[in-house]
Amino acid sequence: MSLPSVTVIINNRDLLDWPRRMVERLERMPGVAEIVILDNGSTYRPLLAWYRTIAHRVEFLDNLGHMAPWTSGVLDTIGHDLYVVTDPDLDISMLPDDTIVHLAGLLQRHPQLGKIGLSLVTDGVPPASPYYQHVTQREHIGQTRTTGPEGLIAMPVDTTFAIHDRRVLREYRVGGMRTPAPYQARHEPWHVVTPEGDFAYYLDHVEGRSSSYRDFTRYVRSDSVRGLYLAYAQEAGRKVSTKWDSYLDVYEECFQPFKRHAVDLLEIGVQNGGSLEIWSRYFPYARSLTGCDINPRCGALKYDDARVRVIVGNANEPGAFQEILTRSPQGFDLIIDDGSHRTHDVISSFLSYFPLLKPGGIYIAEDMHCAYWEAYGGGVLNDRSAAAFFRRLMDTVNADHFREADAGSLFQAFVPREQMNGFLCANPILSVAAHDSMYIVRKASAARPRGLGREIIVGDVAIADDRVLATRDRMQQAA
Ligand SMILES: C[S@@+](CC[C@H](N)C(=O)[O-])C[C@H]1O[C@@H](n2cnc3c(N)ncnc32)[C@H](O)[C@@H]1O
Repeated sequence: MSLPSVTVIINNRDLLDWPRRMVERLERMPGVAEIVILDNGSTYRPLLAWYRTIAHRVEFLDNLGHMAPWTSGVLDTIGHDLYVVTDPDLDISMLPDDTIVHLAGLLQRHPQLGKIGLSLVTDGVPPASPYYQHVTQREHIGQTRTTGPEGLIAMPVDTTFAIHDRRVLREYRVGGMRTPAPYQARHEPWHVVTPEGDFAYYLDHVEGRSSSYRDFTRYVRSDSVRGLYLAYAQEAGRKVSTKWDSYLDVYEECFQPFKRHAVDLLEIGVQNGGSLEIWSRYFPYARSLTGCDINPRCGALKYDDARVRVIVGNANEPGAFQEILTRSPQGFDLIIDDGSHRTHDVISSFLSYFPLLKPGGIYIAEDMHCAYWEAYGGGVLNDRSAAAFFRRLMDTVNADHFREADAGSLFQAFVPREQMNGFLCANPILSVAAHDSMYIVRKASAARPRGLGREIIVGDVAIADDRVLATRDRMQQAA
């Protein structure tokens, strides 16, 4: 029997170790006449260096995702009609040498199946793997699976290692059947508990179309707030920080746009100093990270990073305020109030420090569950609580539309009306968001001031009310 000639197409992005081992195995497999790697815009340098050392064709594409073998046009350029498409994340080391010959024979005998792929070993997935449930409940090849001709398993194949004939199938299709043991591969990511190396890099650089598992795993970017907290927890001798789990994602959402900028950050209430250290890691380009704490013991906090400094004092007294201002006369991009959480302090701090926020900056008041507790001067029905203050602040976002009162009059329980009107005029608020125990106040930026902006009327057919067209015409004339 003559050997088939099969082209193997490996669709890759940013993975190195797994596809390298796969290529090494394929090079020793009879029937593999050609190996083509489709690279989907990888940036992982060791991978790009490896490509330069191999004797196989590498096609550098934009990130076309899992359908690249069918959408890139590569099928017109390969040397053989029989082709295998595979993801790069399979361990095929245990495959028998005649796998390609066997797959080619099966497809020849059962062309109606369209494609025939390897089944996947489901044993040995560690319970700590994020895939454990999925694999044990959905991927397991149990008694219930029906079989097809020659013992093939009636389990459709997607982009797992599968053979096709380009004269029959030239498009992405989930279908066909899978081979039983010993023609089985191991799906590597199922066995990973903590992504490292190229897999961690891959996950950090996933783009929407290319990942079948980013949302599926519990993987967190190592440079995210959560990732940094997790990593910090593993290090011995680190300063303590205490945060509620849900805060980490809110911080990520707020801070991410500032991550690569030369930010000035202020944290009121540093306690044992851990959070300030984590912020210094989160913002590699930060200009200054200033902490303030009333506790004199915080004077002993030492940081190797010269950008970090702790000022000891009551943030709501002129001495500490002045020192903070001197430390960062240009103002702050980000201010976190994690101080006493008492109503009086929370409001005083906001009124003192929000003016120091740069346009476009974010002010975060943390642990605001205290605003609902009497012991902290709060209560859900208490009109003088910090929660009531932030609720009124939320209303001021719509101050342009008030008819019967001005914004300052909302705050009479806290601040004289005129004073508050002056405050809001000098410190325009873009938005106020409430999360569980957190208020996020954004200052309007010069580039995107608050307000509705111009009215946009598009379209020219108005069957219900054509007055809008007259408005549009007036606006066009005025422009
Ligand atoms: C919840 S702890 C801060 C925790 C820290 N941010 C963290 O994430 O680990 C609150 C801290 O605020 C400090 N504090 C309370 N009132 C303050 C005030 N008026 N000015 C400055 N610090 C204050 C306390 O001494 C305490 O260390």
